[in-house]
Amino acid sequence: MNIVITDDYAAMSRAAADVIASRIKEDPRCVLGLATGSTPIGLYAELVSDCNAGEISFGEVSTYNLDEYRGLAGDHEQSYRHFMQKHLFDLVDIDPAATHVPDGANDDAEAACWDYEQSIFEAGGIDLQLLGLGHNGHIGFNEPSDEFPVNTHLVKLHERTIEANSRLFDHIDEVPREAYTMGVGTIMHAAEILVVASGSDKAQIVYDAFFGPVTPQVPASILQLHPNVTVIVDEEAGALCV
Ligand code: F6R
Repeated sequence: MNIVITDDYAAMSRAAADVIASRIKEDPRCVLGLATGSTPIGLYAELVSDCNAGEISFGEVSTYNLDEYRGLAGDHEQSYRHFMQKHLFDLVDIDPAATHVPDGANDDAEAACWDYEQSIFEAGGIDLQLLGLGHNGHIGFNEPSDEFPVNTHLVKLHERTIEANSRLFDHIDEVPREAYTMGVGTIMHAAEILVVASGSDKAQIVYDAFFGPVTPQVPASILQLHPNVTVIVDEEAGALCV
């Protein structure tokens, strides 16, 4: 595992964008796994500017997002599909048909999850998976539990995750209680994984996830067993790693 500590959020964003941009340059047809949340916003902005500068093209790239709220259609302002359109897809030269987010509008959980897992498989798997880190160590919406969920599945969100996400909704009651998420197995099958975290509130979980025991109580800790992981954190989030 390669851990990189940068001076600040801007440097973290640039360093993470460099990893993704290099992958696109090496393999213009690569399959990227993408994340939402506050942390990747800066790195998406960097990728947009790289694309606008003609340094990279998303023309042949395909993408699979980690997760989506169940019950929100893609045009809902708080859906993860909407987030991705706003921060990346609408701003670069990507083929809309090559962008994939679990279908939150599909109420049939089994079909939604199976179709998604199958579609990743048919794409040949994920070449580079981007992850943020939840305060409780969740990756995607894989929350602490007694086991590592393997495939894309339906989850009931933890109270702390609902509270953290409520900042984006008018009222906490509007935050969906369920989501579809790639499983830990789906994530671990990616050829390469890039984790980003920023801010002092992430320092403890960065330490626990990457220096503590591997346990489903800290889902991100399983990444210690993956052969090709880069963790890029700013100085505040990396404070306990030095
Ligand atoms: C988002 C996702 C989540 C976030 C995590 C960190 O698609 O899968 O696991 O990466 O909740 O979110 P932020 O970056 O907002 O701290």
